[in-house]
Amino acid sequence: MMPHDFMPGLAGIPAAKSAVSDVDGERGVLEYRGIRVEELCKRSSYLETAYLLLFGHLPTRAALSRWVEDVAHHRRLKYSIIDLMKCLPEQGHPMDALQAAVAALGMFYPGRNVEDMENNYWSAVRLIAKLPTIVAGWARLRRGDDAIPPRDELGFSENFFYMLTEKTPHPLWVDIFDDCMILHAEHTMNASTFTGLVTASTLADPYTVVASSIGALKGPLHGGANEEVVQMLREIGTPDRAGAYVDEHMRTKQKLMGFGHRIYKVKDPRATILQSLCGSLFKTCGTSQLYDIALAVERKATDFLKEKKVHPNVDFYSGIIYDKMGIDTDLFTPIFAMARVAGWLAHWLEQLRENKLFRPDQIYAGEHDRPYVPLDQR
Ligand code: CMC
Repeated sequence: MMPHDFMPGLAGIPAAKSAVSDVDGERGVLEYRGIRVEELCKRSSYLETAYLLLFGHLPTRAALSRWVEDVAHHRRLKYSIIDLMKCLPEQGHPMDALQAAVAALGMFYPGRNVEDMENNYWSAVRLIAKLPTIVAGWARLRRGDDAIPPRDELGFSENFFYMLTEKTPHPLWVDIFDDCMILHAEHTMNASTFTGLVTASTLADPYTVVASSIGALKGPLHGGANEEVVQMLREIGTPDRAGAYVDEHMRTKQKLMGFGHRIYKVKDPRATILQSLCGSLFKTCGTSQLYDIALAVERKATDFLKEKKVHPNVDFYSGIIYDKMGIDTDLFTPIFAMARVAGWLAHWLEQLRENKLFRPDQIYAGEHDRPYVPLDQR
């Protein structure tokens, strides 16, 4: 094999052969197992989509009801995990709390042999079921409130709102939130998926795999951007100030959060769907000033960035929806993780079938044969 040129960020280098999802960055098409996300948002639910991602096909009615029941029955957290979260500093970031709790989860579930497919199924069920309980639990514990136990009879998204607020939300909110979960469930070889696969290639257990993916998702160049977008929109304050803000960012060559993507050369299809979800939400709950500011930013930024093929990505409009639903800004990225865990696990299961340890090469750019200089001569 010929040695490759070094590609910073591994841009354009395939890291896996995968049938989980596909992005056509020129046409702005995203498919999960060959089905377009627009279709899934219209016709599927988050849990059904998670099943599709994990097992490669849509479930039959019986398989879906078993899957939904399995997930519903595994939402509870052991009290020791709740005790552990109570010990974390309440001003800490919820992504750190989520990562710590997920890493700890693995200590409670024995049989971590990843060659045991039955056990892998239950690990996937537990992770998909328990992430929302951890996120909602932490949101309450840090305020000194009790965590609210899940209710098995509630659907995935409805139960999340219930654990967060002790109320069941408007059905439209449940539908919109579920669509947001679908849109965030998977996205080919992104940084957090790749991170998880590197960990998984050592045959580490899935709790460790997901904990490492959560760490990668946190950064502002990846999932952390959704939180930063809303902070930026608040800083801008009113739509008429968007132009000056964008001008200044472009003049000083700063990046605009929620814009740009390694693969998309057109507007991210998820951003387009999220915008239409904003429209549905605002019809029932009134508009959001943040949305008007976002539109003004997009208009102005497009003048500067369309030549570079930089457009809004998934993180540009998602936070506006969560903000309108009254969700704390620092929970946006943990909510992203709650959805993306399905994609991480789908890639993990796929890779296990033909696992090979990730051990890339490097291009050494240092010196050779340097003398060791004794301490008193330096
Ligand atoms: N604002 C202004 N200019 C940008 C932006 C942006 N957000 N993104 C890219 N560009 C410009 C960049 O300055 C560069 O211009 P030039 O060629 O003149 O130096 C060109 O476009 C290529 O950018 P790059 O940074 O080399 O591209 P990349 O593929 O390495 O970066 C990215 C992709 C997502 C890291 C980057 O677009 C970015 O930092 N965006 C802001 C953070 C963000 O929104 N992240 C969420 C990504 S999508 C969802 C997710 O993964 O969670």
